[in-house]
Amino acid sequence: MNELERLAASKARRAIMLDKAGSKAEAIKAYREVIGLLVKLVELSDSPVNREVYRERIAAYTRRLRELQEDGEARATQEEPEVKEKSNALPAVLDSRPPVRWDDVVGLESVKESLRQSIIYPSKRPDLYPLGWPTGILLFGPPGCGKTLMVAATANEADAKLHVIDAAKIMSKWLGESEKNLQRVFSTARSEAMSGKPVIVFIDEVDWLTVHRQVEVGGEARVRNQLLSEMDGILTKFNRSFLFLMAATNKPWLLDEPFIRRFQKRIYIPPPGLEERRRILEHYLSKLRTSRDLDLNRLAEEMEGYSPHDIFSVCLDAQLEAVKKMFEEGLEEPPEITMADIRRAMGRRRPSISRESVRMFEEWNARFGAP
Ligand SMILES: Nc1ncnc2c1ncn2[C@@H]1O[C@H](COP(=O)(O)OP(=O)(O)OP(=O)(O)O)[C@@H](O)[C@H]1O
Ligand SMILES: [Mg+2]
Repeated sequence: MNELERLAASKARRAIMLDKAGSKAEAIKAYREVIGLLVKLVELSDSPVNREVYRERIAAYTRRLRELQEDGEARATQEEPEVKEKSNALPAVLDSRPPVRWDDVVGLESVKESLRQSIIYPSKRPDLYPLGWPTGILLFGPPGCGKTLMVAATANEADAKLHVIDAAKIMSKWLGESEKNLQRVFSTARSEAMSGKPVIVFIDEVDWLTVHRQVEVGGEARVRNQLLSEMDGILTKFNRSFLFLMAATNKPWLLDEPFIRRFQKRIYIPPPGLEERRRILEHYLSKLRTSRDLDLNRLAEEMEGYSPHDIFSVCLDAQLEAVKKMFEEGLEEPPEITMADIRRAMGRRRPSISRESVRMFEEWNARFGAP
C-alpha cells in the first residue's frame, strides 16, 4: 500500500518533469500511468480521507492530460481552461461581484447574522471595536449548499470589493504565473483596504492547498507557500484591517490544524432541512408557470438529501422540459409544470448528500467549528 503510494508519487514527479521539459508524448504516457496507479490506490485504501486525496489527484492529472492531448502549441502561455465539471464555481481570479444578495440565499439566517457581525458592522463603525474584529472566515459544508453563493452575497451586502481565488484552478495552473498572480491579488487587495472600504479575498476550494504531502509534486508547493505567507499577513489575530480573508471547502478534513486555527471564524453551512427545502423550491418555482396540484411540502419531503443546488437543477430541468414541449408541440406558451414533471426531473437527478457525509461534517464541526 505504502509502496504503491510511493510509486505513484515518484511517477507523478516524473510526469511533471517531462511535462515541464515539454516532452508531450512521454508526459501523456506518464500521466496515464500515474492515474492508473491512483485508481488502484482508491480501490485499495480504506481511509476515506486518503481516497478523497487520490481522487483529487486523479482529477487534476486527468485535466492536465486532457490539455496535453487537446493542444500542443500554445500550451505554455495558455490560461487554464474553464473547469467544466464545476459549473457552479467562480472563475480562477475574479474581481467583480456576481449580482446576488442575501435574499437569494434561502435560509442560513444564523450564518448571515454571523457575517453581519464580523464584516458589515465593523466596516461601518470601526470606532466601536477597540479590540479589533475577526478577519479570517472559513465556510465549510457539503457541496451545493451555498458557500460560494454566500460569499458573493456578503460582498454585495457589505459593498465590499471581492477578489476570488479558486484554489483548485490556481493549483492546477501548473507552474510559473500562479505565484505572481497571487502576489498581485493580495497586494492590490491590501492597498484597496487602506481606503477604508472593505475588501474580501475569497479562496474557494481551499482544501486544494493542503493536499496530502506524499502525492503532491511539482510547482504546487511553491504556490502553496506563497499563499500561506500571504494569508499569514492577514490572519495573525483579531486586527483592525478592512481586508477580510474568506475561504470555503467541502472537504474540511483535508485541512491541517495550524491552517484551520488561523481562521478565527469557522462556520458550518449545513444541508437544508425540510422547511428550507420547501422554501428553496418556492424560491425557484415561483419564477415558473406551475400547476395548482403542486404540493411543495410533499416534494420537500421527497427531496431529503437534495442540496439546494440539486433542487435548483431539478427546477431548471423542469423548466427546460416545459419549453421544449412548447416548441415541439407548437404551443403558445410552456405548459404548466406539474408534480409529475418535477418527479420526473428528480428521477434524473439523484440526491448528492448522504447521511454518512453529513455525519462527517457534523463531527468536524463539533471539533473545529467556531461560528
Ligand atoms: N441557500 C441557497 N438558497 C438558494 N439557492 C442556493 C442555496 N445554496 C445553493 N444554491 C444554489 O446552488 C448553486 C450552487 O451553490 P454554491 O456554489 O454556493 O455551493 P457551494 O456550497 O459553494 O458548493 P461547493 O462545495 O460544490 O463549492 C447556487 O448558485 C444556487 O443556485
Ligand atoms: Mg463553492
